[in-house]
Amino acid sequence: MKKNRISKNWINKQKRDIYVRQSKVDGYRARSAYKLIEIDKKFKIFKNKMTILDIGASPGSWSQYVSKIVTNGKIISVDLKKMEKINNTIQIIGDFTNSNTQDQIKNKLTSKAEVVMSDMAVNTTGVKNLDSIQTGELCKEAMIFSKDVISSDGFFISKIFMGSSFNEIVALGKKIFKEVKVFKPQSSRKYLLNFKESYINDYGSYKRSTYL
Ligand SMILES: C[S@@+](CC[C@H](N)C(=O)[O-])C[C@H]1O[C@@H](n2cnc3c(N)ncnc32)[C@H](O)[C@@H]1O
Repeated sequence: MKKNRISKNWINKQKRDIYVRQSKVDGYRARSAYKLIEIDKKFKIFKNKMTILDIGASPGSWSQYVSKIVTNGKIISVDLKKMEKINNTIQIIGDFTNSNTQDQIKNKLTSKAEVVMSDMAVNTTGVKNLDSIQTGELCKEAMIFSKDVISSDGFFISKIFMGSSFNEIVALGKKIFKEVKVFKPQSSRKYLLNFKESYINDYGSYKRSTYL
């Protein structure tokens, strides 16, 4: 039993190192890119000419990935922190939970977004439940905001941590969207603070009328 656990940890560490190394080869600013690439491989989300909102975008690897596909559309990347420039993207620096930032996003979106994605995470405190609740609140805020800006056949993707608010977040997702899927990319840092890191990947039209 102990041996199995050790070898599993070893395998996870190896995988992690592989993604860090690969991100340098591929020119991605963070290994997070591979989570989105896995999601895209599985759910076939991104296409050229889309309008995409990337929230919690810094240092920018998700925006980098989509900017290669969406060469003729619109990508809006939002974060508290400034990012180095990425081709085909518009940057908004600000706190997403602030209504000014949300107004700026709406002003830049001249049409509905086909994809709203959020990789926002608070700086972890090490207090497992607190971290998952705070990051969960960001996910909820992004879901609620997306109701106004996402197209009827759009996708919503968000990082969530498995924690005490997990079921509540999934339940809220089911009220807003037609279908909710929880997916754990292999490249995800599953080991992080013993959380499983997952992505709600929602697609199909959302049921605005059933939202409370
Ligand atoms: C895991 S990183 C995102 C990595 C990014 N997806 C990438 O591929 O490079 C999480 C980001 O969420 C941002 N963030 C956290 N709270 C935020 C908030 N309230 N508004 C905007 N960004 C936020 C952080 O500044 C941080 O850059």
